[in-house]
Amino acid sequence: MTDRYAVFGNPIGHSKSPRIHALFAAQTGQSISYQAILAETDGFAAAVDAFIATGAGPARGANVTVPFKEDAFRLATQRTPRAEAAGAVNTLSFDSGAVLGDNTDGAGLLRDLKHNLGCDPAGRRVLLLGAGGAARGVILPLLLENPTELVIANRTEETAARLALEFSRLPGCAVSVKPEGTGFAGLVGRRFDLVINATSAGLKGAILPLPTSVFGQRCFAYEMVYGRETPFLELARAAGARTADGLGMLVEQAAEAFFIWRRVRPQTAAVIAMLKA
Ligand code: ATR
Repeated sequence: MTDRYAVFGNPIGHSKSPRIHALFAAQTGQSISYQAILAETDGFAAAVDAFIATGAGPARGANVTVPFKEDAFRLATQRTPRAEAAGAVNTLSFDSGAVLGDNTDGAGLLRDLKHNLGCDPAGRRVLLLGAGGAARGVILPLLLENPTELVIANRTEETAARLALEFSRLPGCAVSVKPEGTGFAGLVGRRFDLVINATSAGLKGAILPLPTSVFGQRCFAYEMVYGRETPFLELARAAGARTADGLGMLVEQAAEAFFIWRRVRPQTAAVIAMLKA
């Protein structure tokens, strides 16, 4: 009986997760099955129930992508502190009736930045663009790295301000810097060492109204969208920044999920290279 896993999303046809987990399984000698499941936008819980109930082996876990990460948060009967902070769950583990919810997105981003790209946020001025789910998921992990500044900038300024306020009060967390929220206009004249685009603007080819001064000397610019040349990447490169897209984060968040499920950590470099090719 093969342990079963799946990724739920809508749309899901484009998902690279089945391929990534198949590569991890082959590399680590784990026997698992992993499928992509398209759930109705109002049918996430029903789709998970059906996945658990039907299949040739035990359902052990699932990844969750857009637009179901908040549904997965509600479905989980237990959640990790990082999932609580993110307000979203991208990794579920099924364990005799319990549903454990975790969020590996922040860990994936930091692993890609620090380990693959040599860009450690510690002691750096960090600018996070966007205030939706993708941004929220990485705020606490970024703060825990002790940047000297974390500015959250969003088209809708109030959302950034609210998010910054929420992450300024973290009882029991060893975080020394308080995030600051602003609109894009508030970035004029400011410089950063690391700029992370967590908006969905790149998916639509939309240009962010960013002053190019945000890309300070030796700046690193990270685009969470992957597999396409976005206006943000173009702007950053033109301003002299080093850049990366979110493919590494995708593979690293998957590796973290694989580790949660199988207790073996796959090597990611070869998988990232294969997906790039
Ligand atoms: P997700 O939860 O997946 O991050 P989302 O909630 O739709 O997706 O959030 C998308 C983010 O991208 C938001 O910060 C959004 O800004 P608003 O809060 O002002 O809507 C941002 N975004 C999307 N399209 C954008 C665009 N064309 N220009 C600037 N920001 C954009």
